[in-house]
Amino acid sequence: MIGNGRTGGITASARSQGEQLLIEDFILLRSLVRERTLISLPLSSKKQVEFRLRKKLGENSLKDFQRYLDLLRSGEETEEYYQLIDAVTIKETRFFRNEKQFVVLETEVLPELLQATERSTLRIWSAACSTGEEAYSIAMVVDRFLATPAARGMTVEILASDLNREVVHRAVQGLYPKPQVMKDVPRDFLRYFQEVSEGWMQVEEGLRRRVTFFTHNLRHPAIPVREADIIFCRNVLIYFEPEARRQVLQRLHKALRPGGKLFLGDGETLGTIDRDRLFEPIIGKVLYYQASAGDVAGSG
Ligand SMILES: C[S@@+](CC[C@H](N)C(=O)[O-])C[C@H]1O[C@@H](n2cnc3c(N)ncnc32)[C@H](O)[C@@H]1O
Repeated sequence: MIGNGRTGGITASARSQGEQLLIEDFILLRSLVRERTLISLPLSSKKQVEFRLRKKLGENSLKDFQRYLDLLRSGEETEEYYQLIDAVTIKETRFFRNEKQFVVLETEVLPELLQATERSTLRIWSAACSTGEEAYSIAMVVDRFLATPAARGMTVEILASDLNREVVHRAVQGLYPKPQVMKDVPRDFLRYFQEVSEGWMQVEEGLRRRVTFFTHNLRHPAIPVREADIIFCRNVLIYFEPEARRQVLQRLHKALRPGGKLFLGDGETLGTIDRDRLFEPIIGKVLYYQASAGDVAGSG
């Protein structure tokens, strides 16, 4: 927990000098961010965070930083909270990021699941979806897979969430700069896009409707998705400290069916975080994980 911020010798006059974010204030802000989002901001990110906050809140925003912190503490659904989230989250993503994973999804994971289950619906969750490129990449692959005779009668539910309300809004719109689409989307999948205005392409409506986007903070113990067959939780755990990663991992395990698959970011591994051996690595063309059948005491 962070203190009330009124101590520590940060006087109003010192704070307003040059309107810089004082290191003491940044330390308070870091604690608040970690508490609310699990994101552990490195001290070296001070300048960048300050720059982004200034841009969001206006030039004079840091004059009364104490008031800003008070507003942040007053609740999680405030404008200030969402502005902070937008200022501190790294949203970097792209269509078919780590493309080999999508090949494995289409040619191994989905066919195996189809073989192994008698259910006619599968569920996939993109758990930190940013502006939607990951979820739509999954949706394109799934759509092509569902068109094969073997998958007749099958449906796949795709859920996608992120803590940042702004990126979720953008994801729902499915509107992307044309150069980005042309660079990252394999030719076969360009048919899922329509050029809607000069320089902008939109994911076609049918595919957009396949994905249900919502805001969700992985910090919350309540798990919004259950009985998932596959989870993509890529390039987000790296921003958390080891204990927070372990907690999130337990939640992801609870969200998955036994035997469900977990994809992490390129170069991310569970390593020592998975102390409870909730997941088994599957090493092939790419590394991904399979949820073990057991449950963990005290997880949540
Ligand atoms: C670098 S992007 C990764 C996007 C995508 N998964 C990919 O690999 O391309 C990280 C995303 O994690 C989200 N994020 C950070 N902390 C989160 C949390 N506690 N709960 C949910 N999402 C979070 C950020 O908002 C951001 O959109």
